[in-house]
Amino acid sequence: MINAIAEAPTRDGLIERRHPDPFTFVIFGAAGDLAHRKLFPALYNLMFDGWLPAECRILGVARRQYGDAEFREEIRAAVMRYSRRQPDSEVLDRLMANTMYVTADFNDGAQYQALKTILQDPEQGFPQNYLFYLATPPSAYPAIASHLGSHGLARPFDGKHWVRIIVEKPFGHDLDSAVALNGHLHQVFDESQIYRIDHYLGKETVQNILVFRFANGIFEPLWTRQYIDQVQITVAESLGVAGRGSYYDQAGALRDMVQNHMLQLVSLIAMEPPVAFEADAVRDEKVKVLRSIRPFTTRDVADWTVRAQYEGGTVEGEPVPGYLDEPDIASDSRTESYVALRLLIDNWRWAGVPFYLRTGKRLPKRATEIAIQFKTAPHRFFLQTDTPELAPNLLTLKIQPDEGISLRFGAKVPGPAIKVRTVNMEFLYGTSFDGTPPEAYERLLLDAMVGDSTLFTRKDEVEAAWALVSSILRGWWRARGPIPTYDAGTWGPEEADAMIERNGFRWRKP
Ligand code: BG6
Repeated sequence: MINAIAEAPTRDGLIERRHPDPFTFVIFGAAGDLAHRKLFPALYNLMFDGWLPAECRILGVARRQYGDAEFREEIRAAVMRYSRRQPDSEVLDRLMANTMYVTADFNDGAQYQALKTILQDPEQGFPQNYLFYLATPPSAYPAIASHLGSHGLARPFDGKHWVRIIVEKPFGHDLDSAVALNGHLHQVFDESQIYRIDHYLGKETVQNILVFRFANGIFEPLWTRQYIDQVQITVAESLGVAGRGSYYDQAGALRDMVQNHMLQLVSLIAMEPPVAFEADAVRDEKVKVLRSIRPFTTRDVADWTVRAQYEGGTVEGEPVPGYLDEPDIASDSRTESYVALRLLIDNWRWAGVPFYLRTGKRLPKRATEIAIQFKTAPHRFFLQTDTPELAPNLLTLKIQPDEGISLRFGAKVPGPAIKVRTVNMEFLYGTSFDGTPPEAYERLLLDAMVGDSTLFTRKDEVEAAWALVSSILRGWWRARGPIPTYDAGTWGPEEADAMIERNGFRWRKP
């Protein structure tokens, strides 16, 4: 039997009111990599934890020819391979029993009539709340949205049901294409129905940024230009383009990581307290941050951005090829696999505080962290003592993989003289909380199922992020010649070190 709503988990004795109505989850692109790696395991774990209603049906749609049985076996294999938990066969069987598959070409309008017939056939018994998921190549988004609209599937057919659509990244390629895509979606969907996914917002440690800032009294008073010297955000990956060369070579690190994930991190770190923890209140504050970031002039792009490509090298003890030797990469590609830049936020809280961002593939290790460096004490009389170097206080929010928070401060070394050494106070998720945290996609799918869009990006947010990124792209487009390189397995090109050192800072080594 499928878990009943009443059996849903409790947290510290509180029953969370997050139980979806019966609904049908329609996955466009159900034969693809994202569905296998992320969506099926997330659905399995949501079912295992009792979050899914008994009447939750899944309909996979893709071009590939599958029968229902074959598709169900695909789901089983995907869950076995990618689930964070060792799968339980009874739960897995239930998930599969609730699943069907339809072969369809997303661009062929006629096939949406067949889809509609199946969805609305009383014999099939699909719940009439629809959650559509676009896990297809982005080129298919406009066609799917418009065909859903013209077949009357984009709006509830009565006042009692709901229809929502989750749109995967990349959401556009630049500002114009993002605006155009928003336009396509809005022709058929209302903004309140659209859930633009950024999986970073589903990460526990990313959500904890808001809790850390706004559920504690002691940090917020320090969270200003008066006390903070600089902020560094690093998203380092040891992986290369990992079989996604044709997509990545068109995108590059700026579009792939900065426009979405990293600017989301910036907005959570820099936003003002929202009036409530509600979707629009939170997103209103985030969008204000994005709009306050100073756009890049051509000169700023030259001075305060660095892009680079990896050459062959050694990562985690393994020899790896250079970017240009990866499959599906153009031999003369100038696409960046690394980007570093300095942002300035022109508002009262942050005026003059540099935010340094860097992300890259084939760096020495996987590490995402936000490091907030505080100004030094105003009068440093311990310098007269036997203290070689007193590092400034540093608060590091470790997003992954060693999830936690650490605070660096100076402490007296025991002994008869005054000698100061920096030490760390550490909080580690793994030791303070039990169990494996849910995957980002579990959280985000559940949110979309219950109609909570707080952790999804709104139209104005995505466009503000693209406006900023487009100002950088324009500067890069004007610059000719080769781009810098770095050896795989190093922390990036020396140009990035030179950039930050001009401001008297250095990159951290996570
Ligand atoms: C994706 C990018 O959005 O995020 C990938 O397209 C990148 O290139 C990935 O590897 C990183 O996500 P995570 O969760 O592993 O940090």
